[in-house]
Amino acid sequence: MFSLRKLAYQAFGLIQFGVLLLIYAEPRPVHALTVKIPPRDARQTGRERININSDWRFWRSESNPDGIIYDHRPDLVGLDDAAVLKPWILPSGNDFINNPADRHQRPNGSSLGDDISFTQDSFDDGDWEAIKLPHDWAAQGPFYTEEDPIVGGGMGRLPVHGVGWYRRKLTVSSSDKNKSIYLEIDGAMSYAMIWLNGHLVGGWPYGYNSFRLNLTPYLEPGDDNQLAIRLDNPTDSARWYPGGGIYRSVWLTKVESTHVAQWGTYIVTRDVSDESATIDLVVEIENSGQRSQEIEVVTKLHVFDSTTGRAGTKVAQFPSHTAVVSARGKNAVDASVIIKSPQVWGPPPTQKPNLYVATTTLYADGKPIDTYETQFGIRTLDFNPNKGLVVNGESVRIQGVNEHHDLGALGAAFNVRAAERKLETLRELGVNAIRMSHNPPASELLELTDRLGFLVIDEIFDSWELNKTASDFHLIFPDWHEPDLRAFVRRDRNHASIIAWSFGNEVSEQHTDKAGAALALSLHKIVQQEDPTRPTTASMNFAKPDMPFGRSMDILSINYQGSGMWDTPNYSNLAGIRTQPLYPDFHEAFPDKMILSSETASTLSTRGTFFFPVDATNTGAPINETSGGNSTLAQVSAYELYTAGFGSPPDKVWTQQDKNPYVAGEFVWTGFDYIGEPTPYYSARSSYSGIIDLAGFKKERYYLYQSRWLPDVKMAHIIPHWNWPARVGEVTPVHVFSAADEAELFVNGKSQGRIQKEEYQYRFRWDEVIYKPGELRVVTYKDGQKWTEDRVRTTGKPVELRLTADRKTINGDGDDLSFITVQVVDKRGDVVPTADNSITFSVDGPGAIVATDNGNPADMVAFPSLERRAFSGLALAIFRGIEGSSGDVTVRAKANGLPVARIKLQVR
Ligand code: GAL
Repeated sequence: MFSLRKLAYQAFGLIQFGVLLLIYAEPRPVHALTVKIPPRDARQTGRERININSDWRFWRSESNPDGIIYDHRPDLVGLDDAAVLKPWILPSGNDFINNPADRHQRPNGSSLGDDISFTQDSFDDGDWEAIKLPHDWAAQGPFYTEEDPIVGGGMGRLPVHGVGWYRRKLTVSSSDKNKSIYLEIDGAMSYAMIWLNGHLVGGWPYGYNSFRLNLTPYLEPGDDNQLAIRLDNPTDSARWYPGGGIYRSVWLTKVESTHVAQWGTYIVTRDVSDESATIDLVVEIENSGQRSQEIEVVTKLHVFDSTTGRAGTKVAQFPSHTAVVSARGKNAVDASVIIKSPQVWGPPPTQKPNLYVATTTLYADGKPIDTYETQFGIRTLDFNPNKGLVVNGESVRIQGVNEHHDLGALGAAFNVRAAERKLETLRELGVNAIRMSHNPPASELLELTDRLGFLVIDEIFDSWELNKTASDFHLIFPDWHEPDLRAFVRRDRNHASIIAWSFGNEVSEQHTDKAGAALALSLHKIVQQEDPTRPTTASMNFAKPDMPFGRSMDILSINYQGSGMWDTPNYSNLAGIRTQPLYPDFHEAFPDKMILSSETASTLSTRGTFFFPVDATNTGAPINETSGGNSTLAQVSAYELYTAGFGSPPDKVWTQQDKNPYVAGEFVWTGFDYIGEPTPYYSARSSYSGIIDLAGFKKERYYLYQSRWLPDVKMAHIIPHWNWPARVGEVTPVHVFSAADEAELFVNGKSQGRIQKEEYQYRFRWDEVIYKPGELRVVTYKDGQKWTEDRVRTTGKPVELRLTADRKTINGDGDDLSFITVQVVDKRGDVVPTADNSITFSVDGPGAIVATDNGNPADMVAFPSLERRAFSGLALAIFRGIEGSSGDVTVRAKANGLPVARIKLQVR
């Protein structure tokens, strides 16, 4: 029988230490990571996985258009008589509920809502919008700019709410007659309900999980099967931008009636050494047919080639096993194999993300009936309470960032290239870890983190029974927390990049003492049952070392408390629980548990924007009109000292991390700005917390983090810019971010002093510099030797737009993108740091600009606009080729008074 117990090596038990093959490389910025974009359709013996992202019709209503609801909800008023479909949807989670007695029976007879016209073949959707998935109905805007909109700043001021219907035809041929056919939805926001040919098939409320439904009973041969999907997105479902719609891929999977079950393989590696590693495999087989079958399971192991996305050299074969799978039943086999000289998976730059692929074939009567591939990696992890994270025997400091799921101007609609571009920028910054805050990401993103070697904390919930917003997950927690948790772990547990599972972020149950801790423990247990090989965690911004909450998890994730909150004089006027840096207390209370900071900083800033005076401390200051902020402009100064009320600048975070070296590292809040949660200015559309802005442009802070995370990179970065005509003769502090230990600043050739970094100093600052136009130059030193220089000049006025593209040749698959940066430059070619010229884009050739941005959190021009003001000298245009097309493309950018700028691209 399928028994995870067999694999129940103690929580980190596999976490054995061998002498490992480490591949050392020079730490250096890595550009152009380009890995092969995951294949679209996959056809293998017995199994077809067909991408059905094309040919959809879509329509949305802001209010309830059809008299049906999943269940009653605070934002659904006046719908007391609506048909409640929950009893028909709950059974979709049954495969993820352990106790048979807790599984749901579908009510008898046809369901309420089957007669809805939108579900019927006869309904004419000809005037609905023709769209391609992934699709986010809200990202197109417009932004709500009024004072008290239906969707406020927290959720990005975009029209995420309402009911959206998606319709499409499905084709099955007569050769599919005896097959099992499944619909796989990678993510639909939210409360998905699915009808086929007028029958309610099922659904899944939580918008971040992937799910599968069995369409077989409702399909007819031919091309006229009518699929209809209804989504319903609350106005108040999140503290950030959730997006709306089928925002990830959708697949039709056709298999023989006996086949590898959904997410039906589980691979665990153990006894890893230079010489060998043991690979344990479980294959779960499902038989939806009418007769029992004897199945032989054969699995071969190959090296996985991340650049081609294909299997390489064969390295081993598991002993074959036979299992009898009863009619309409399941069974599982397990097998182990030892491989020689394993190539371990580990994070660059010191290790390599080597992967393997297991190809499982099921045979019935000697004939192959299903083939299923599982990518995985071999690595050892030790979550050491004193040394931090040890990967393959090497201590690896977590240099992490938090990332929400949106992709800036593209909204929540997942796009592989946009995600890969983010990872490239993060790698160049020195990031080696990502916390998927606060929800499971697209599977393709985890394929990228596997292939590129990022360490991942996969996280699922921001709330449990107690809410944070009126219509968040708490509404469905009682029915869905178990299916959602199990589905989350089962989908993702073969990913090499995932090192830990987080089942909660800052949940309010931290405040309910033993009751909250007991609930936490029950969630921990569910995760452990699904994957005993990785530690669990839940992030704590309130629970203290002497409270029971921390006892319910394997490793401690602390948000902000490690570096102290509201504890320095600048914050003394704010309300908040004054908390001294708590790393030592947690370490003492939990000597056996590794500690990491799952959120640090919440430093806020706007790229290229500086306000005066500048706070004199490096321990941070909250934002107000005279301290780092301007509420009229809705901007925050980029001296990188100003924070959310509970936050700390990087300098203060690092001081505490360096004083407490047992802490495994940090995940900064956040790597990129994200849509929504624009603390401190809720009139804006996107956050201020990113090290990188929403358009993907580096803020000043980027260089501060890079100086710590990649200290061998020869880099010095001066702030502010030097265009201050109104400040002549005034004190204008200059800060320099660099890994150097000494630096000398010159203003127009005149030294402002050579200074050394003291212990727990992470930036150079000259606070008395008097502004004069001209040139700032810094010369830095390391160990007494000259190291590197940086220079900032007062620029002239804009004379030209300079266009560059991250990639000049892209695929004409309708998904691939080229990101084009516009720099507004003066006659010497320097970017004019205050330029805000209005730029209009146009395209000749097979493609279009699909979105523009500039990284300004307060820019309320809708993302698809072809007209975009530059912000602090930069703007972004995102180009996509037309599906199936090829040819030369010219993108033009035009601004009043400047010559038209052009860049040539190729679609092929
Ligand atoms: C944290 C929270 C994050 C985000 C952040 C803002 O408390 O976990 O989701 O809200 O604050 O700074």
